[in-house]
Amino acid sequence: MTIHRNISLKPYNTFGIDAVADAMADCHTTSELANTVRTLQGRSVVVGGGSNILFLGDFHGTVIRPLLYGIEVTDITDRHVDIRVGAGVVWDGLVAMCVANGWSGIENLSYIPGRVGAAPVQNVGAYGAEAADVIRFVNAISTDTGAPLRLSADECMFGYRRSIFKHQLKGKAIVTSIEMRLATSFAPNLDYGPVRAAVEQYGRPTLANIRRAIIDIRRAKLPEPDDKGSAGSFFKNPEISEAQADALLRSHPDMPTYKLANGMVKVPAGWLIEQAGWKGRRQGNAGVHDRQALIIVNHGSATGTEIMALAEHICADVRQKFGISLDMEVVIV
Ligand code: EPU
Repeated sequence: MTIHRNISLKPYNTFGIDAVADAMADCHTTSELANTVRTLQGRSVVVGGGSNILFLGDFHGTVIRPLLYGIEVTDITDRHVDIRVGAGVVWDGLVAMCVANGWSGIENLSYIPGRVGAAPVQNVGAYGAEAADVIRFVNAISTDTGAPLRLSADECMFGYRRSIFKHQLKGKAIVTSIEMRLATSFAPNLDYGPVRAAVEQYGRPTLANIRRAIIDIRRAKLPEPDDKGSAGSFFKNPEISEAQADALLRSHPDMPTYKLANGMVKVPAGWLIEQAGWKGRRQGNAGVHDRQALIIVNHGSATGTEIMALAEHICADVRQKFGISLDMEVVIV
């Protein structure tokens, strides 16, 4: 284990916020991680790839980094392959490896920043797929005792950008690895928006072509991680009642809506923010991305509070214009 003191978090959060942590514990094994939580005093926060977190200021506590690597095949048949993947593995490296091996299930989740440990926490999703589709078990440790926990997919209570790790187990468990079942026989998932057309440019919908197409779509819409700081979607897409959606559609007939199985209606937050006039706008060093309004970017040296002030301003405008409250997707520390 390596402990760093008074360390700048700038390289460890994709927003590029220059906050300082009192300590950072790099844990390379599950037992180092367990030891860290058992002996820890004061506040702590777990950071994987730092791609979904906003530090409002210096962090007076310990940043825990579970740098647990390894990808293991635990079972393989002519239909599926089961793999166990360490929380510290870079998510997109895993996707690339699965595509190269002909294992299907996460190719639509190509080019998502971050590490594997975050995938079950927020049930990462994009282009018609989500982590919950393939996760069978999540291994973690208890932050109270350091003891191992093993949760089945059902126990993880996955939903849209949520899981038990964001609710009942919030702050109580640290993911150490995930176990996924991928298909060795391949069925392309091309139904989300621009995916089919983007794949056709490359020819047949092979795993590699889907990965290429998804990377193209993301590059066209989302800021390149090395270019401008951001944390992907800042807000979740809100779910509203059918009655509220009907009322809004009378005044905004072009509002995109998606009916959900639970009777609610999902509205793209990016559309709401764009309609509220925020797309591409800048407030100090923080701004709204000019190609995808759901993304707040750091134009240079924004502080966490500047980003937050912009987010609050956007929320207030959307609430006033549409009567819809936006929930943040990004974890605020
Ligand atoms: N839209 C606009 N203006 C915008 C952005 C979006 O009008 O500036 C509308 C359009 O109607 C568009 C619709 O919103 O058709 C959906 O846009 P998009 O396909 O870009 O998806 P999203 O709902 O904005 C979600 C995820 C993304 C994920 C994409 C693709 C959330 C919070 N975000 O965005 O995830 O990549 O779908 O599946 O659910 C992330 O979580 O960080 C992330 C990038």
